[in-house]
Amino acid sequence: MKKGVLVIGELNVDILLNKVRGLPVIGQEILADEMTFTLGSSSAIFAANLASLGIDTSFCGMVGDDIFGKYILAELNKKKVDTELIITESKYQTGVTIILNYEQDRANVTHCGAMDHLDLTNIPVDKFSQYSHLHLSSFFLQKGLQKDIVQLFKIAHEKGLSTSLDIQWDPANEWAFPYKQCLPYVDFFLPNEAELLALTDTDQLSDAFDVLDGFSNTIVVKRGVNGALAYSKGTYTEADPYLHSQFVDAIGAGDSFNAGFISSYLKGKSLPESMLFGNLTGAMNTTAPGGTGAFSDLSSFVTKARTIFNIEI
Ligand SMILES: Nc1ncnc2c1ncn2[C@@H]1O[C@H](COP(=O)(O)OP(=O)(O)OP(=O)(O)O)[C@@H](O)[C@H]1O
Ligand SMILES: [Mg+2]
Repeated sequence: MKKGVLVIGELNVDILLNKVRGLPVIGQEILADEMTFTLGSSSAIFAANLASLGIDTSFCGMVGDDIFGKYILAELNKKKVDTELIITESKYQTGVTIILNYEQDRANVTHCGAMDHLDLTNIPVDKFSQYSHLHLSSFFLQKGLQKDIVQLFKIAHEKGLSTSLDIQWDPANEWAFPYKQCLPYVDFFLPNEAELLALTDTDQLSDAFDVLDGFSNTIVVKRGVNGALAYSKGTYTEADPYLHSQFVDAIGAGDSFNAGFISSYLKGKSLPESMLFGNLTGAMNTTAPGGTGAFSDLSSFVTKARTIFNIEI
């Protein structure tokens, strides 16, 4: 039987500082009243939450031979993500992100470390046909993979996998993603609204879709409290958000949307159904701290969907 989803991506820990007393000032020190240490990285949050929704999930990435790397492997294993394809490389340090949380938004500082060094030579493309779906996140954080991105998605498509890509924000704000070459091999392109506008250098979504038309298959745009909007070869699909009063933080909401969306798609659901389920997993993400706090297993997800959102799954 085929395996489920192969996630290729960056791995890091998150150090979250909450209740920060003001903005950091060079040469001074400020205090944060709360601190949390968790599994970070868009790709790992996606993989962990996808596995928690009952989808068979494997991860391919790189960590350093250090305590953060060991923690990441242990956390992914706890979440039932297969870590056999994760490389531990003693030459590099494991990535780390320090997050300063301010109400609904946050400021991040990342040291990429080992994640910079994963490239096509570390990825077992000969095993691709064992999997049903390939997902990649955080294109701009993975310098080693950038030159190989088109080749990677082309091989995945040739081997019969469906594919999804969430490029995330470009910290350099240069947006050098080769969308004309890559998007034809991406079934679901999953940016948020700000990322899509920045990538296409446009001010509104309809213009952004025009720029990508002819290259893209389905684009699903995440829009925070406005839900999601998809565009596929001239057709628009909208999905309403699941608003609620138990907001904690929005870290990883986009990755949780991706996990819900892809899990639903892999179970044979339609585009609107998959977008709604993505909105639900995105909203669920915001009811607990960090990207994975709201997810443990499918039965507790079903219970929380009922108690928090009044939805029967
Ligand atoms: N406050 C909220 N209430 C309800 N749903 C939310 C909220 N914030 C996000 N969501 C849901 O989660 C989805 C993804 O969130 P968002 O648009 O913030 O993604 P993102 O910017 O890619 O996030 P990330 O920072 O994790 O990459 C939204 O489309 C929406 O369905
Ligand atoms: Mg995102």
